[in-house]
Amino acid sequence: MRLNHEQLSFFKRYGYLLVPDVMDQALCAKVRDEMWAALPPDSHLRRDEQATHVGPFRSEDESLDSVHTRQGYRWLNRALGVSAQVIELIYSEAICAMAEQLLDGELRQAVVGGTPMGTQGPAWPGGPTDPAVGTEGARGVYCTLPYGERPREPDACHTDGHPFQLGVVGLLDDTPQGGGAFKVWPGSHAKLYPTFNLRYDQPRIPYYDHLPSFKGIVHTPEYLQAIEELNAQEQPVECYGSAGDIVFWHHRTAHMAGHNHSDVIRQAVLADFWTDKLDELRSSAPDGDMWRDWSSAVQNSDTEISPRFARQQRLPGSDALAVSAFRT
Ligand SMILES: [Fe+2]
Repeated sequence: MRLNHEQLSFFKRYGYLLVPDVMDQALCAKVRDEMWAALPPDSHLRRDEQATHVGPFRSEDESLDSVHTRQGYRWLNRALGVSAQVIELIYSEAICAMAEQLLDGELRQAVVGGTPMGTQGPAWPGGPTDPAVGTEGARGVYCTLPYGERPREPDACHTDGHPFQLGVVGLLDDTPQGGGAFKVWPGSHAKLYPTFNLRYDQPRIPYYDHLPSFKGIVHTPEYLQAIEELNAQEQPVECYGSAGDIVFWHHRTAHMAGHNHSDVIRQAVLADFWTDKLDELRSSAPDGDMWRDWSSAVQNSDTEISPRFARQQRLPGSDALAVSAFRT
């Protein structure tokens, strides 16, 4: 499976690319089995009783373990990120070949049985788990329980603070529209890229026990302003679909985990790609051509996007694009 010029151009222009039916269906089913098998046997959540799938987790079923977190509506099994099946699924030959078309350099290799994300605990007491620390495989299998009666909330995007170059989210099971799928803001990568201090990384304020109130990732005022504008003015694309579908997304693409207003659990595998050049590139300034350290195929991509392909990619306004193309 190879990406064509239109796909490469679309990724470059909009910072994401939906690619249907990439992951092996039988392996997806096996990973779903692994997810359920990892649940404590006395859990209220039972696979064969759909009524129990609605969140939040009951307090007695919650786990703050950062390699297998169950809290609120989120069920994050990071231990599975180094399982042979998950690595075979999300770092498959086909997906790696497409990532190699996009990136320039030797892809970092995931380690089966290596240390999963979260092994070293949260970034600071009570803080988030840092995907950059001790992660030798995929980020893991991330599920969102149905929200049930929980009121609707507005979308709110962010970017990830750890260094990598290319993200991928793969659906392990069929995920309907409104069912908690990953959301991306088209074109946000180009808007946000120059607002960072560093090309693929971000300055951080260290955490100290005796000075606890000031910590974490440092954002520029320009970045915060741009995020506010994206939330207020731009429509995200929802990456719902069938088991086996994936989305590639650029490191600086604004995104969020969707709200799950369906009656099924959203089950996805998340993974990052980067090359052997990341260590050298991560701290350089985000000036000049943002694609200069991507593949020459990406650098040279400027194919016109057809209205049909834009619609397949669910690009907001692509229906209007199709109409105007028809009229001309
Ligand atoms: Fe994120």
